[in-house]
Amino acid sequence: MYPCITRLQTILALLYSTMLSRGHTCPSRCLCPDHHTVDCSGRALTHLPGPFPLNVRRLLLANNWISWIPSDFLLLYSDLVYLDLRNNSLSQLEPGTLSTPFSRLVFLDLGGNNLTEIPSGSFGESRSLIKLRLGDNPYLSAVGPRAFQGLSSLRELGLERNGLSDLDVGALEPLASLRTLRLEGNPWACSCRFAKLFAWLTEHRDKLPTGEEDSHVTVM
Ligand SMILES: *[C@@H]1O[C@H](CO)[C@@H](O)[C@H](O)[C@H]1NC(C)=O
Ligand SMILES: *[C@@H]1O[C@H](CO)[C@@H](O)[C@H](O)[C@H]1NC(C)=O
Repeated sequence: MYPCITRLQTILALLYSTMLSRGHTCPSRCLCPDHHTVDCSGRALTHLPGPFPLNVRRLLLANNWISWIPSDFLLLYSDLVYLDLRNNSLSQLEPGTLSTPFSRLVFLDLGGNNLTEIPSGSFGESRSLIKLRLGDNPYLSAVGPRAFQGLSSLRELGLERNGLSDLDVGALEPLASLRTLRLEGNPWACSCRFAKLFAWLTEHRDKLPTGEEDSHVTVM
């Protein structure tokens, strides 16, 4: 009676079963200790292996040579909560890659890569994000004034040992939940902007208390 709908249902059923069967594949060079974790750390990978199970929540890709993430990656793996890309060869993030609406990411480690810039709007409205590690990117010298906009739940931000000579204080303003900020090991220039940053850090000492174990701010 409704051939279109019947056909659509068939397609959906097919799609669903493909997704289900794909849901249990593990990329050949990786380990899948449970249904939601894929561990491909230290496998000398030069690009993302895949496909990953579509319902992957924890994806461990540290210590590889991965230089590129497709911009629809988080759209495809929308259940991802924990993404560890530490110590890879990423030099830039395609616009939109990390600003996926409805992202569930809570933990993102991009430390130890070769990033040069964190452009404004990089993380869109990643309201779930709690820990963001961007340290040890020695050429990272530019952080856009609205680079961290939308990160309203972010508690920990690591920008240590990068190539920052200054940082626009405005970039930190949207981080209402920030508890730990790491800025040490950057080649700060004693500019006006740095003076403003220093004043901001002093002023927000209460926001970044030093007493608790998980809360501190380190600059030098
Ligand atoms: C980074 O990854 C490479 C390749 O796996 C490894 O040889 C190196 O020890 C790692 N470096 C760090 C600091 O973990
Ligand atoms: C890292 O980036 C710098 C500056 O863009 C470049 O000169 C260097 O070759 C890159 N290194 C790697 C390992 O990609």
